[in-house]
Formats: sequence, structure tokens, C-alpha cells
Amino acid sequence: MTEISDILAAPPALQPTLDPDHAPAPETPAPRKVFLKTYGCQMNVYDSERMQDALARDGYEPCDSEAEADLVLLNTCHIREKAAEKVYSALGRLRELKKKKAAEGKVMTIGVAGCVAQAEGGEILRRAPSVDLVIGPQTYHRLPEALARVKQGERVLETDYALEDKFEHLPAPKPAATRARGVTAFLTVQEGCDKFCTFCVVPYTRGSEVSRPLSRVVGEAERLAASGVRELTLLGQNVNAWHGVDDAGKELGLGDLLRRLAEIPGIARLRYTTSHPRDMDETLIAAHRDLPALMPYLHLPIQSGSDRILKAMNRRHKAADYVALVQRIRAARPDLALSGDFIVGFPGETEEDFQATLDLVEAVGYAQAFSFKYSTRPGTPGADLADQVDEAVKAARLERLQALLFSQQQDFARGCIGRTIDLLLEKPGRMPGQLIGRSPWLQSVNVDAKGVEIGDIIRVRITGAGPNSLFADVLG
Ligand code: 5AD
Ligand code: SF4
Repeated sequence: MTEISDILAAPPALQPTLDPDHAPAPETPAPRKVFLKTYGCQMNVYDSERMQDALARDGYEPCDSEAEADLVLLNTCHIREKAAEKVYSALGRLRELKKKKAAEGKVMTIGVAGCVAQAEGGEILRRAPSVDLVIGPQTYHRLPEALARVKQGERVLETDYALEDKFEHLPAPKPAATRARGVTAFLTVQEGCDKFCTFCVVPYTRGSEVSRPLSRVVGEAERLAASGVRELTLLGQNVNAWHGVDDAGKELGLGDLLRRLAEIPGIARLRYTTSHPRDMDETLIAAHRDLPALMPYLHLPIQSGSDRILKAMNRRHKAADYVALVQRIRAARPDLALSGDFIVGFPGETEEDFQATLDLVEAVGYAQAFSFKYSTRPGTPGADLADQVDEAVKAARLERLQALLFSQQQDFARGCIGRTIDLLLEKPGRMPGQLIGRSPWLQSVNVDAKGVEIGDIIRVRITGAGPNSLFADVLG
């Protein structure tokens, strides 16, 4: 079996190289431009913003295309094989662009960040000679220093798990940057995972579970609110495992944190993602009952409806536990919309196991869901299991599952027609006078609205449902 240490081991220290591809960069007149491309999950979106803030302090301005950029940073995802492959094809294209720029006498620096950087580290430097910098998710606060080393002609690999807390060292965004990002914001409160589901690379790429302290999270939320943010989505690979202590030393969980954040003036809506069923405690369920700001939407992955497969996945609960948990949460918040993740074709999955997944979906009823074919990830226990499922079988099962999930999503959307809801206006729509907002259940809603602005929360009545969004009329 591939050992985890094989994945994470750094190759022998890479010596500074002075080949023409990596010659010291001449001074580029300020401001320098950075193009940051984000793959994967919301946590990468949040991390990219924080890297953007760190780079802003170094005089980098964001730009919209690779062609204009002095620095191209790919913030990558390693969760499935396809996601990781995208990085290498992007690097192939960037290599050509870098050559073209070099012929014009310009220097373009290429960096790879995120989970592919963490998992493949030195392999990227070997496979992609045009890459100047590989930086893992735990060391983003060292980005400016790493770029300074690149400027000296070094190829830099920064994938150690840092002892210091990166969030302590990453600068807060300027209020103008927060405003430009809109009225909703992500806020990472927890990172990493100790659950070790047998299909998943996260415990290896993001490390073990760490919660940010209460005061840091509250401070960041207050700053975001002061810059006009109205909705916060708390992020963590296991967000509901967040724990902290208050000033009196009392142990707190995510439900307590949500209560505290709901008190911040300006914060009207709270969400959190992603949760593990085993970490949904009573305080968190009570928060769904008691906090009007906590939106009635929950992303609660189960992955499979078969107890045999759940066991092989090391999920450490049964399908019936999940169904009972959902009943308890729905009892606390009857209008809750449920979302989930599913994997089809985990090693050993039979037609009967797959049918159990379909049955669970029927029994639970999802407003939205994400479903994937099992993808073998080197270094995870699942990769070594016999009985890998044929790709064609996985594809056929995925199609059947997605048809069912899509019909549930459509039923949920159609069920919203006629309802009166609060809508947080987020951005202009495609038509003049049109605005797009989010329903409490995270659906996009189009309205024609006058005399209101982005950031307002307005009362609307849902009038129609398209495949991906709803339509509504403004009330009053
Ligand atoms: N193959 C397929 N899907 C995966 N996920 C995680 N690892 C894999 C894998 N190896 C899915 C899970 C998880 C979501 C973020 O990605 O459903 O909840
Ligand atoms: Fe991966 Fe399981 Fe941890 Fe989620 S809970 S990040 S699926 S190991």
C-alpha cells in the first residue's frame, strides 16, 4: 500500500536553479498583476481571497486573465482524480504562455497552491518545469516570502505543516476588498479532518482537525459585517466538529458559536458547511430551532444508503441513524431543506447496496445534492480494496441516482411556488432592472425590483421555477 508518508514526503531539498526558465525576475513596474484560479470547494474560495489579501499587501492587484498576469496562482483540488488532472492540463497551457511572454522579455511566475500542491508537492516541480512555486494550504501566510525567494531564481516547495497558525499571520482584507466581494462571505472556522473515511484524501491534504478560537472567528465576522456583509457561511471540512471555549473557560460547540454570531449587528443570515452526521449535537439542532438567522438549509452528506458500504467507508454510523437524525433536525426546524453528497461505485458496491442508496434518497427527500462516481485516490485505504467497480457500472448508477435527485430538486423548487419568503439581494440580474437573490434554501431567485439595492432583504412571493433558479414578485 502507498503509505501516507509517501504522499506527504517532501523530495530532497530543491536547490536554487538558475536555468533560463527561472532566471531572477527583473523589477516589474508596480502594480504587479495576479491571476488566481480557484478549483474545488468553498474553502478554496475563502483561501484564495486570503491569499489575494496577502498579495495585495505586497503590491499585487487581481486581474481577469492569465495573459495580463505577472503571477498566475492555481488553487487546486485533489478530491477526485479528474480535479487533479485539470491542474496538469492547465499547467501545460501556462507553460506555452510563459514561453511566449519570455520571448517578449516578460517574466511570468507560476504557482500551484491547494490540495494538489500538498499531496503531490515535489512531483509537480518534476513534472511541470515551468512551475516556480508549490505551496500547501497550511503555509499561505508564507506566500510573500516564498515569492521573494522565487524572485531570486529559486524554485520553492512549501508544503510542511506549519507550526504557527496561518490565520494569525494572514492579513485581514481591506474594507473595500470585502465590499467588492459582495454581501455574502465565507469564513473558515475549522480546518482538517480526523474521520478518515476510506475514500477521502482530506485528512492527508488538510491535516487533522483544528478549530479557530472563538475570539478570532467573532472578530473576523464583526469586520466583515462592518464592511456590509449580511450573510456568513461558516466553513470547515467538518464544520460541526468546531469547538472552542468562552472567556469563562466554558466548552462551546458550533451551536454556541452560531448563537454568538447571530448577535452581530448587520449579520442577518448564517449558514455552515460541511457537516458529518456524527457531529450533529443537541445544541446545534436547538440552534436550528431557536435562531431565525440560521437559514433552514443543511448540507449533511451520507455517501451511501447501504450499511455494508457505510462500514467499508468507515463512516461509523448506519443508514437508520442518519434517517433518525434527519427526523430530529426536521422536528426542530420543519421547513429545513436538506442537501447531501453521494458516492456510487465504492469498492464492493453491489446492485443491492446501490438500491439501498436509492431507497434512502426516496425516504429522506433532498432539496439538492451532489453525487459522484467513486474515484480511487492513492494513499487512501479505499484504493487498496479488491472489488473495484467497473467504470461503466459506476456511470450507469450515477445516471440513475442523479435522475432521482434531480426530480426531487425540481419537486422541491415547484413546491416553493406561491410561498412568501425573504430574499437577500446579491447581484444584478441579466435583464435591466432585474436583481438576483438567494432564498433561505440557497436557491437563486430572480426579481424585478425598483427602489431597492444589493444587500437589502425584501419580501417576495415565488411565482415560478426554472431548472436552476426561481422567479418572484416583490411584495409591498
Ligand atoms: N471519490 C468520489 N467522491 C469523493 N468525495 C470525496 N472523496 C471522493 C472520492 N475518492 C466526495 C464525497 C464528499 C465530497 C466533498 O466529495 O461525497 O462528501
Ligand atoms: Fe473526507 Fe470523511 Fe473527513 Fe468528509 S468526513 S473530509 S468525507 S474523511
